Amino acid sequence: MIRITELTHKIIEEKKHIGIAIDMTCGRGNDTLFLARKANKVYAFDIQEEAILSTSDLLKENKIDNVELILNNHDKVSEYVKEKFDVAIYNLGYLPKGNKDIKTTTSSTIDSLRQLITLMNLEGIIVIVIYPHDPEEGKAIEEFVLNLDSNFDCISYKVLNKKDCPYIITIKKG
Ligand SMILES: C[S@@+](CC[C@H](N)C(=O)[O-])C[C@H]1O[C@@H](n2cnc3c(N)ncnc32)[C@H](O)[C@@H]1O
Repeated sequence: MIRITELTHKIIEEKKHIGIAIDMTCGRGNDTLFLARKANKVYAFDIQEEAILSTSDLLKENKIDNVELILNNHDKVSEYVKEKFDVAIYNLGYLPKGNKDIKTTTSSTIDSLRQLITLMNLEGIIVIVIYPHDPEEGKAIEEFVLNLDSNFDCISYKVLNKKDCPYIITIKKG
């Protein structure tokens, strides 16, 4: 059976060299840890202190010191990341075992995606994990990628025979 996080990591593993990576929703830090082991430097955003502390603990346990944790909305990404990046990941929705009312929103997700598009390195990739329980956010992302020009390749990975499975959209430049 496919696990979406594993598939996300497999997609990223195809990249041989990762200079700068961004975790747009660090949550409990699992994706941040994965990225930190592959990249020279990782920026990791979350709007909840609980998520930042949780990620910080996980990184310390694993003796990781190449991550800048940012307690702020990812729609401020271009204020923090000044260099071009190779990989960015979003795992949308709410903090696992946290407050389900605090979750990603269509407006900040799309606003931050617009910024990332201008910050991407050639061959850079954005990987977005989308949950079907928020169809508006998923639809807006699909619309956003449909309007990108042919300098980008956008791919969707969906489990077609299971209704409530999360799915992935990737945006690759060049
Ligand atoms: C599904 S969790 C991420 C899981 C994480 N990747 C992991 O490995 O544990 C989604 C996270 O997005 C955060 N979040 C929601 N809106 C956000 C925003 N506008 N900017 C940054 N983080 C946000 C939530 O606080 C939550 O921790």
